[in-house]
Amino acid sequence: MTEIKDLFPTRIYRADGIIPPKLNGEVEAVSMSLAVDDRAGLKWSEAHGYPGYTSYASLNDLPWRFPEFKSLVKAIDKHALAFARELHWDMRGTKPVCDSLWVNVMPEGGSHTSHIHPNSVLSGTYYVAVPEGAGPIVYEDPRLAMLMAAPPRKKTAPEAFKSHVSFTPQVGTLMLWESWLRHEVPLNRAEGNRISVSFNYCLG
Ligand SMILES: [Fe+2]
Repeated sequence: MTEIKDLFPTRIYRADGIIPPKLNGEVEAVSMSLAVDDRAGLKWSEAHGYPGYTSYASLNDLPWRFPEFKSLVKAIDKHALAFARELHWDMRGTKPVCDSLWVNVMPEGGSHTSHIHPNSVLSGTYYVAVPEGAGPIVYEDPRLAMLMAAPPRKKTAPEAFKSHVSFTPQVGTLMLWESWLRHEVPLNRAEGNRISVSFNYCLG
């Protein structure tokens, strides 16, 4: 008897339309006003070569400042808990808690190179505005560094065997993954801003 087991899965969670369109519109309006008014954030973005605007280093209390963001976090919380259960985590009576959240406004020509989110258990992105043709988010096989002598996989291989997998979000899409998983955002070739809200969860 022969048996092949598929072990050590890397799970990526996607949910679409997680908040009503009206609330999404409000989050978009707040995000765009931040991209104009948050001088510290604009300064940081420029100094660090960030294409467009991010509140990553300037505002750490968006859900407290804006009820729209509070409602968004409430919606994401439910998905984070559902995902944690699907990962079979032993949370010892705790649950995933959002401990940082920031807005990204990426214009045409922007990109974000491959990275992980340290000091967190779950990370993710909610997509507020996705112009026609805006790029995907790309996840990388976490074992890639160990595959030096391994043959590349065929182009026709099933998705689960590929070393890079892309997801194209829509407005209202939520993506969640474990924070150690490397990901990147290729060049935004679409006209218009790609607006997203990224966040980290810890166990609390
Ligand atoms: Fe990221």
